[in-house]
Amino acid sequence: MISKQSSAIWGGAKLADVLELVGIPKSTSAMSAGGKHVEFVSIDRCKEEKGGPYKASIPLSQATNPEADVLLAYEMNGKTLNRDRDHRILLLPRDSSCKKDYKMFPPLVNTRRPQMDFPVQSAICSLEDVNVRSGKITIKGYAVSGGGRGIERVDISIDGDINSNTDIVAKAVDTAANVQPEKVEDIWNLRGVLNTSWHRENHRYHLTFYRYHLTYSSRLYIAYAPLGVDDVDEKTPVVVEKKDESVDRDGEESRLNNVPNENLVSLDPTDRKESEAEKEAWRLLKEAVVTYCGSPVGTLAANEPGDKTPLNYDQVFIRDFIPSALAFLLRGEGEIVRNFLLHTLQLQSWEKTVDCYSPGQGLMPASFKIRVIPLDDTKVEEVLDPDFGESAIGRVAPVDSGLWWIILLRAYTKITGDYAMQERVDVQTGIKLILNLCLSDGFDMFPSLLVTDGSCMIDRRMGIHGHPLEIQSLFYSALRCAREMLASDEGSKNLVRTINNRLSALSFHIREYYWIDMKKINEIYRYKTEEYSTEAINKFNIYPEQIPHWLMDWIPEEGGYMIGNLQPAHMDFRFFTLGNIWSIVSSLTTPKQNNSILNLIESKWDDLIGNMPVKICYPALEYEEWRIITGSDPKNTPWSYHNGGSWPVLLWQFTLACIKMGRIELARKAVNLAESRLYADHWPEYYDTRNGKFIGKQSRLYQTWTIAGFLTSKMLLENPEKASLLFWEEDYELLEICVCALTKTGRAKCSRGAAKSQILV
Ligand code: GLC
Repeated sequence: MISKQSSAIWGGAKLADVLELVGIPKSTSAMSAGGKHVEFVSIDRCKEEKGGPYKASIPLSQATNPEADVLLAYEMNGKTLNRDRDHRILLLPRDSSCKKDYKMFPPLVNTRRPQMDFPVQSAICSLEDVNVRSGKITIKGYAVSGGGRGIERVDISIDGDINSNTDIVAKAVDTAANVQPEKVEDIWNLRGVLNTSWHRENHRYHLTFYRYHLTYSSRLYIAYAPLGVDDVDEKTPVVVEKKDESVDRDGEESRLNNVPNENLVSLDPTDRKESEAEKEAWRLLKEAVVTYCGSPVGTLAANEPGDKTPLNYDQVFIRDFIPSALAFLLRGEGEIVRNFLLHTLQLQSWEKTVDCYSPGQGLMPASFKIRVIPLDDTKVEEVLDPDFGESAIGRVAPVDSGLWWIILLRAYTKITGDYAMQERVDVQTGIKLILNLCLSDGFDMFPSLLVTDGSCMIDRRMGIHGHPLEIQSLFYSALRCAREMLASDEGSKNLVRTINNRLSALSFHIREYYWIDMKKINEIYRYKTEEYSTEAINKFNIYPEQIPHWLMDWIPEEGGYMIGNLQPAHMDFRFFTLGNIWSIVSSLTTPKQNNSILNLIESKWDDLIGNMPVKICYPALEYEEWRIITGSDPKNTPWSYHNGGSWPVLLWQFTLACIKMGRIELARKAVNLAESRLYADHWPEYYDTRNGKFIGKQSRLYQTWTIAGFLTSKMLLENPEKASLLFWEEDYELLEICVCALTKTGRAKCSRGAAKSQILV
């Protein structure tokens, strides 16, 4: 059973050429000193070799044979091999896998020589339509053999009950009459490698007609046309005659390049047709793409046809682009994301002033647009025009933009493998500028980042100034990303140390003081106040009277969450979804807390998910509180927009958190709910009312992050392994740093165990 296939085009230097340069002529089979092999030794050391280097050798005759195509590969699909591979040069003898694994036995079993050639083999890569009940099917696949041998023929046969459960079988024979073995039992080996027995694909539906026509080159066959039952003898394999025997090397390569992509990708059973909603979402997402000098650089915030007053929704927002970027990345389209990252980087150092005052260097804009400036009668120039918050209604610096930029850069690198991008000097400088701005000393007493109201997704007054969880969790995530991406040179050493210290202090602080559950509320309920000295238990001098009535009845026994904000004498007990989700995703919270947050969401489903996932915060500010805190904002009325509205863009983030915690069923339930409405409602920006029943009063339609968030959620659910590239596990070393610091005050012993017991709640 083949579940995944991939192909790559390798680039590099021919080993024969390299050896010639160092004085070993082509076609040498032995050195004058007697050496007959070329040995390759890795720089890195590995466990499998008991801490020694990794070694492999090939015969000198093969290494120096100009026809043998032994390649020192430093490029894959046109890109330099990345850091995941340690900038490694791969030794690729033609026809064999690149590592020592082509030995069929572990090193201690020294009974066989390494396998240097491919045995003859074939595989079915796709059946055109598994739902076919009668009529035709197309089978596509490949056949290869090693040692330069061509393929003589490929036999396709059916096996089993043609009306119910049919196997389609492929068998290849090479030009030296080697036959692909029938059963795995005949070629069994200890490590399970090179299992090249006949390939069988089970067909679940009955087939009544087949018609076939296969063409192939000497190395590869591709099936184009359907099979017909009249031509098929059920018992005897069908012999497919070779169509084109005299294909030259170039011809072969072009055929290889012509292998339709679907031949080489997943045969996963979850492969399925896109729903109407997904089809429309992809079309709309592509229509929202903004180009700059002919290249895609981002997506519009909203693309509502006929909207005469788009305000700034016709711009590319940094935060709004994240789900678009992920949708493109998960679909294998990296270019737009790369362009976005590089162009927004240029805006970072833009001249920016509000009333003769400039915000800090390193600030990323909230959004940008492409302005077209006429040069003369015939020519125009396109210019990127950023908004650092000076035009946006909240008139506040978008603190989250730089954090998102770093998070996206890491996601881009992880998904595409393009590590060269993060190593660029301008990109490294960009990361450092953002960090310097966030890590600069101020008047702070706490490790959390001090910001003004509305400096994030909630970009107008909602009482989230000070140290809002919404920003802390993104800050923590961005620090974790940056630590991974900063070049490990002298210049970054101090910065990495600062990041580590901040990460550990931040996680301790948030876990300890922002967390509430039944037990903690009861503790707060009994707090003593007005304690003087550094030994105070009620460190923030919280007055228990401020615990709101709704909270006592609302908080479930089995759940808990991070409160929205904390400052002396004040806890903002509102539940903010983005902050809680990113705490889970980045492991700002402990594994136990992560599960408790999801328990809370599950048990308060009607309040937090309701008719449209996911509520931005709960509960809404009402009456006097609304008047004072929002300044009577008519758009942020109770249960609307930022004040308790429901935001489909939070769906992908919720999905990611659920996948991380193995609670995929919760995400599925939310995505199904959204899918049934978003498409019919024309992809609104947000929904109103306590349980998200109505489309938001002033909500845009065709909001891009709603569309892209939905697509990203679907793709994450289908490829949970991709999701793991986007979240982090607990880092015990960070916890140790923190416990070590606490030890100085005599509070704990310094060890991983102590770290766990101290900081894991
Ligand atoms: C609203 C949202 C903000 C978003 C912008 C563009 O202002 O509050 O988070 O970036 O619209 O969609």
